[in-house]
Order: sequence, then C-alpha cells, then structure tokens
Amino acid sequence: MKYHLISGGCGFVGRNMAKRLLNTTQDRVIVVDDCSVGMEPAKWPMPEGGTFLGGAPVRVQDNVEFWGENEQFVFWRGDFRFFLRNMLENDNWLQEAYGFEDFAKFEDVFHFAAIVGGRAKIDGDPMMVALDLSIDAEFFYWACRHMPNRVMFPSSSAAYPVNLQKEGDYVALKESDIDFQGGNLGQPDMTYGWSKLTGEYLARIAAEHYKLHVACVRPFSGYGEDQDLSYPIPAIAARAAGKEDPFEVWGTGKQGRDFVHIDDCIDAILFALDNIKDGSAMNIGSGKITSFLEIIEIFTKFAGYNPPIKQLLDKPVGVHARHANMDHVFNELGWKPSISLEEGMRRVYDAAVARVHG
Ligand SMILES: NC(=O)c1ccc[n+]([C@@H]2O[C@H](COP(=O)([O-])OP(=O)(O)OC[C@H]3O[C@@H](n4cnc5c(N)ncnc54)[C@H](O)[C@@H]3O)[C@@H](O)[C@H]2O)c1
Repeated sequence: MKYHLISGGCGFVGRNMAKRLLNTTQDRVIVVDDCSVGMEPAKWPMPEGGTFLGGAPVRVQDNVEFWGENEQFVFWRGDFRFFLRNMLENDNWLQEAYGFEDFAKFEDVFHFAAIVGGRAKIDGDPMMVALDLSIDAEFFYWACRHMPNRVMFPSSSAAYPVNLQKEGDYVALKESDIDFQGGNLGQPDMTYGWSKLTGEYLARIAAEHYKLHVACVRPFSGYGEDQDLSYPIPAIAARAAGKEDPFEVWGTGKQGRDFVHIDDCIDAILFALDNIKDGSAMNIGSGKITSFLEIIEIFTKFAGYNPPIKQLLDKPVGVHARHANMDHVFNELGWKPSISLEEGMRRVYDAAVARVHG
C-alpha cells in the first residue's frame, strides 16, 4: 500500500486534498494536525452532503484515529514537529506504534501545516506567524533524511515583493519576480511572506543538494465553500446572505486580489507535483484582479439587494493590489483554472445561505 502524508490536513487546503486523495486512490492518507485552527475530521463538511467516512473513526489509539474501510484514513492529532521528531528518532516508529508493517517511506508529502490566519493575524501577531519558520525548518530537515518520493511546499503570493503591489504602481506578479539565482528577491509581506520565501529557499536547497523531488506553489487568494469565516470571501458571502445593511468593508474596498477556487487549487497543486521537481514555484491564480467592492457587488446581487457601503478604515487591508501573471503557467506549463469567479462565488453563496438559514 502507498502512504501519503498531509501536514495541516485538517485545514482548508489540507482537508480538501485529503478528500481528493481518498476519492481518487486506494492509498493510505495520514493527516497530522494539532487542530489549533483546523477542523477535526468528524466535523468536515461534505459538499455532496452526509458525513466524512461514516462520521466516526473505526478505531482510536491514544491521539490517533483510524477511519474508513481498511483504515485508509489516519488522523494523528498533535504538533507536526513532534510527529517528525518521532520519525527521526526511530526509523520504524510508524510500523511499531501503529502496525503499518508494509510502510517503507512516504509517497507524496503535502506540507500544509502553518500558522496562517487572515489579514488580522498576519498584521496583528507577526511573531506567532514567524513560528512557521520553525515548522518549515524541521520539515525540510526531516524530508532530506526520509526522502519521500515527492514533496509539496505551499509558498504564497505573500512571498512577492510588496513594492510591486502598491496603489497606482502595481504589476501582475510573475514567477521570475522572485529570482533566487540572480539574488533579486525584494521585501515579502510581513513574517508570513518571509517564512514562505525562506521555505522556497529550503526547497531549492533540498532539491539541489539532497536531490529531493520538491515542488512549490504560490497560491493567490484561495477560497471555497468550507473556508473559515476569518477569511473574506465566506465572511462577505455570509453577511450578504444575512442581508447586512449598510454593508461593511475593510478599508476602502478598492484593494484587489486574484481569487482562485479551492478545487482549482487542488488540481494545480497535483499538477505542480507532476511537473516540477527542482524546488521552483508556479503561481496559482486566474490572472485577474477583483476588488472587494466588486466581490460585495457579486454577493449582494445574488442576495437581491443593493446596500450602501460602510468603509472601516481602521481595519488592516494589506497590500493594495495582488494578482498573478499566469503566462508561464498557462503557456509554458499548460495548466488553467476551470471554475470562473462567478461560478465559484455562486457556490460559496449557496453554502452561506445554507449556513445562515439552516
Ligand atoms: N488558502 C490559501 O489561499 C493559501 C494561499 C497561499 C498559501 N497557502 C498556504 O497553504 C497552506 C495551507 O493553508 P490553509 O488555507 O489550508 O490554512 P489553514 O490555517 O486552514 O490550515 C493550516 C493547518 O495547519 C494546522 N497547524 C498549524 N500549526 C500546526 C502544527 N505545528 N502542527 C500541526 N498542525 C498545525 C492548523 O490547525 C490548520 O489546520 C499554508 O501553508 C498556507 O500558507 C494557502
């Protein structure tokens, strides 16, 4: 049996990846999450209704839950760094502790464990977000010893230089705007962006020096039906579904982002693993910029009303304009998102209506 590992697998991206792997393979999927933010599997929303793998584990051993037929899904609750240290201390830890006799090494490893939060966390508690440096350093140290078959490191659009994202002076961000070889890196966005830039650097070292197959992605603003309400898209959708009037927006609302649906993010992440192995990164975006005012317009139109806008100018808004130049991905690598903004927002809105009105 093949084994895949997803750190941070109870988070937004991680649980969507876990579901995808369970739907498309017979492989065992091990999710590690301390649930500091993530949602435990028993509560995972299922878009098609029903519960995740019958709604309850088939077996529980200490901090570990075994789910589904053949215990195909395993949830290890705890800090990912402890999981890694256990593996480093004893090569046979997984076999001895959990009876995974056929385990030799991980096939695909998706490293999604991170302290992310929304804008409020990134600006409001930067030193907590800096703990990502510790998680990523321990991760790459382990990965270069364990040598999984393939490794995914999610960087972020926040790794791009902030001076390319200013009001009146912004560009569509292209992969080469971060140039490790030429030493042209710029200033990333807060400790979050610095940790992502450092993670990418570690990925390159892991590929060059240790010959690890590793791919990086720079997702722009991923959104989806089951995203935490601390993120703007589901929060705005829920407020529109509840007919908020006047409609509050952080800042002027003119700041723009490049929104990409979670299903497309998952496709792009798997595509990157198949097509990148040298630690370099590809953008995940649509190539289009949309302001928060435009997002509010879309959702309030769905809700059938047209409220006045109330700007909350004391709220953190981040950079003015952040969107992807997708030329490299569309034309050279050959991947494109398949869910339009309108369709993706409609899905989020329908989910929000179900949440608000039961
Ligand atoms: N969602 C996006 O649009 C987006 C955009 C760019 C980059 N990313 C990156 O993708 C990854 C996943 O993002 P997400 O949106 O799913 O975030 P998320 O916050 O929903 O998920 C992160 C998960 O990591 C867990 N976690 C945190 N610290 C941990 C630790 N020490 N040990 C074990 N688990 C821990 C949290 O409980 C959470 O479930 C992150 O690295 C993030 O930076 C996401």
